[in-house]
Amino acid sequence: MYIDSHTHLSDDLLIGDIDKIISDFSESGIEMVFEIGSDMASSRSAAKLASQYDCIYAVVGCHPIATDDVTEADMLELEQLAKGDKIVALGEIGLDYHYDIDHNRQKALFVKQIILADKLSLPIVVHLRDAYQDMEQILTENKQYINNGILFHCYSGSAEMVDRFAFLDPYYAFGGAITFKKNNRELAIKAVPQDRLLIETDCPYMTPVPFRGKVNNPNYIYLVAEKMGEGLRMSGEEVGVLTNINTKRFYRINK
Ligand code: NI
Repeated sequence: MYIDSHTHLSDDLLIGDIDKIISDFSESGIEMVFEIGSDMASSRSAAKLASQYDCIYAVVGCHPIATDDVTEADMLELEQLAKGDKIVALGEIGLDYHYDIDHNRQKALFVKQIILADKLSLPIVVHLRDAYQDMEQILTENKQYINNGILFHCYSGSAEMVDRFAFLDPYYAFGGAITFKKNNRELAIKAVPQDRLLIETDCPYMTPVPFRGKVNNPNYIYLVAEKMGEGLRMSGEEVGVLTNINTKRFYRINK
């Protein structure tokens, strides 16, 4: 059975098809998925989906590209939301220097949410793009607040950074990008301890080959598992078993 550790099913591209997508889960061997918030609206949707569907758990938080929209009132609401049923982590939070959004404001929001997660005893799901040095610095400076697990989602960094982050014992999720022609993920995947590997679709984006160009959904997760298996000399099913156990350990699902 597969677990998709990172979905955005409430995205406009998917929300109308959600019942159909979920009804295909048994045929695709998907046991559960984790719906991730990236701003207040999608965090509310994630919580709602988790309350509606047994197989969906929710993660709430504000992505760095939402930085300029997040108010103090939002942070209070986020805290209440995060205390809800089936809310298993704070995320996706982090740094994204690809976009022209003030770095200091991004860092401040990220640290606030790291501290909130610690207060709530929740793990964190981290988005990281083009900001490796600042990420390392922030995580080093705030290590005392990282006590419940950390996951780098859609990891696109180097194997060397995997070594540099080892002081946090992080989890790493890999998605459709590992199936693209030009990618350097295989070394990074091999650098991650096998009990720290997860798979994800990040749907509706990052659709794996050969469906690239179509809208992504969790039923394509087997393609990510098969590709990860090539480097690890495992079958897609074996990767499914391994990452299923790891995902439940990270998100603390006792099923
Ligand atoms: Ni995402």
